[in-house]
Amino acid sequence: MADSRETNPGKSGNSDNKVVGVRRLKEAMAKPPSTRIFTVANQKGGVGKTTTTVNIAAALSMGGLRVLVIDLDPQGNASTALGVPHRDIAGIYDVLMGDSPITSVIQKVSGFPSLDCIPSNSSLANAEVNLVSMVARELRLKEALVEISPNYDYIFIDCPPSLGLLTINALAAARELLIPIQTEYYALEGLSQLLETYGIVKKRLNADLDLSTIVLTMFDGRTRLSNDVAANVRAHFPKELIDIPIPRAVRVSEAPSYNQTVMTYDPLSPGAIAYMQVAREIAERGKPKDEIKFDSNVVNINYKRDGEIA
Ligand SMILES: Nc1ncnc2c1ncn2[C@@H]1O[C@H](COP(=O)(O)OP(=O)(O)OP(=O)(O)O)[C@@H](O)[C@H]1O
Ligand SMILES: [Mg+2]
Repeated sequence: MADSRETNPGKSGNSDNKVVGVRRLKEAMAKPPSTRIFTVANQKGGVGKTTTTVNIAAALSMGGLRVLVIDLDPQGNASTALGVPHRDIAGIYDVLMGDSPITSVIQKVSGFPSLDCIPSNSSLANAEVNLVSMVARELRLKEALVEISPNYDYIFIDCPPSLGLLTINALAAARELLIPIQTEYYALEGLSQLLETYGIVKKRLNADLDLSTIVLTMFDGRTRLSNDVAANVRAHFPKELIDIPIPRAVRVSEAPSYNQTVMTYDPLSPGAIAYMQVAREIAERGKPKDEIKFDSNVVNINYKRDGEIA
């Protein structure tokens, strides 16, 4: 699966083990015809939004694609997991407030050739309040992204666990919604609220938004509960569900404390392998449709007998 071009895959749990290079997949992932912008949202806390964002982003980058993660959660967990400084520096908050140009807050993620991050910072907690009085307050992120989105194949926006103005900004800026669902009790509880918000944003702010992807997280195949939740989601969202569940796996939860994704922390662990498969499936779904073949019948229909265009 991986070739030997890496300098240091950083696979042990040793905190001294800094990632200085990552495995690049031998088989590149399919490039989408235009930038795919995903919002990763679920107002339920702790369902795996951030873990899914950073690991899918890392995997796509390892597949040779240009990827940006925007940490839109004041908790800053995505910035931490990607090892990007975010405490006392300008981040997405300053962009939303119009105080920093978006190009000035982009940081490279160490060890990845084509993975960038716009960090959150603690001031982002004030955004919900400070955005209220601003003009086009729901469209601040969308407007900021225009300048940089052509530079990426994929952009992922990691949302906080709420349906406030930050999540609305993310939904307004994206083309696709990715919902991680934890295979646990009450997994689908609250989903109707998220779907309602999705419907409102689609109607009022962003007609292009599409709930395209659902990922099951923290799956435990041994339990009836996990399987029941998976079956339920599959029945409701057969097209959207990526039928490769992410297993509950200790390496996945350990990785952020070493400022790493599981893709570098332990690339051969079950969690990393599952995220890699999910990323590949996402890339496959987004690859350009086969070029339209020349079809003489179609051409004939458009011409009259004497060759004049009909
Ligand atoms: N597949 C997994 N196996 C084990 N632990 C996991 C897995 N996915 C996520 N976790 C752990 O579960 C917790 C919640 O995950 P995460 O932070 O990704 O959720 P979240 O939805 O972003 O949370 P929040 O709503 O607070 O932003 C974290 O401690 C994370 O390490
Ligand atoms: Mg999170």
